[in-house]
Amino acid sequence: MRHVVDMKDLSRKDLETIIEKALYFKKIKHPVKTLAGMSIVNVFFEASTRTRMSFQKAQSVLGANVLNFDPGTSSLQKGETDIDTLLTLQSMDVDAFVIRISQNGGVEKFAELLDKPVINAGDGTNEHPTQALLDLVTMNESFGKNKLKVAIIGDILHSRVARSLTEGVTALGGEVRICGPEDFVPAKFDGASIITHNLEEALDGVDVVYSLRVQKERIEELYDDLDDFFRKYQINEETIKLAPKHAILMHPGPFNRNVEVSDGIVYSERSRILEQVRNGVYARMAVMEMAIGANENIQSLQETVA
Ligand code: CP
Repeated sequence: MRHVVDMKDLSRKDLETIIEKALYFKKIKHPVKTLAGMSIVNVFFEASTRTRMSFQKAQSVLGANVLNFDPGTSSLQKGETDIDTLLTLQSMDVDAFVIRISQNGGVEKFAELLDKPVINAGDGTNEHPTQALLDLVTMNESFGKNKLKVAIIGDILHSRVARSLTEGVTALGGEVRICGPEDFVPAKFDGASIITHNLEEALDGVDVVYSLRVQKERIEELYDDLDDFFRKYQINEETIKLAPKHAILMHPGPFNRNVEVSDGIVYSERSRILEQVRNGVYARMAVMEMAIGANENIQSLQETVA
């Protein structure tokens, strides 16, 4: 068993294995139920649509018992702490945890205390490893290789996706540029080859235009014209022309229509946004097998039958 909390928990070989396995799962119709007999609990202390639902789908397809913890109707409402909640769930003999929380480092803290595999489904502005993995799967599927030039555009400062994706792309030998408004792009960003406020410079020669949402829920100081501010960096029918014709458009979702991406481009031929969602199920199947040690599970199931 192993935790997947940070992209640094995964070697280059792990990344290549997950990409290959995810694309294999996408191709076949009936995967072996490697998580049969296992109970996995999804604990989302923060809102989610695609991560939560795709983990549930991935777990079901691999035969796991899927437990979904609902904070709104739980004893958190009576004052129970998050860690006491997780220890309570662990006592029910669950085999793994998938956790999302809005505090940076929150999932790592839980992983240190729990003795079952923990998969990070996003912690604050820190890390979102499975989003990065599904993005790497989508890029490999589009280009047939991993060494790519990626421009990440928008609210970099509040983005856990930007950090995890940069770690993933550069670990595979690719290049990442970051670009956005001055207040939303840090002066230093580990792994970035270019940090710029100029969209033309960012998109020149790239393979992937990766647009990010304005994370309004994480911005304490409210700008009157925040949407207008970000429209200067909008990816639309005109600005996409700054990238080569072969470049694809990606976005982790959810997106703000006509803020960071225009209506006209969001589901265009160049967009892979819905393919990212689709690949999220396969990438998460591959990650859970790796974290939980699915092959060991197959062996123990076979021994039980024998
Ligand atoms: N991309 C992503 O994490 O989306 P959700 O918040 O809907 O899970």
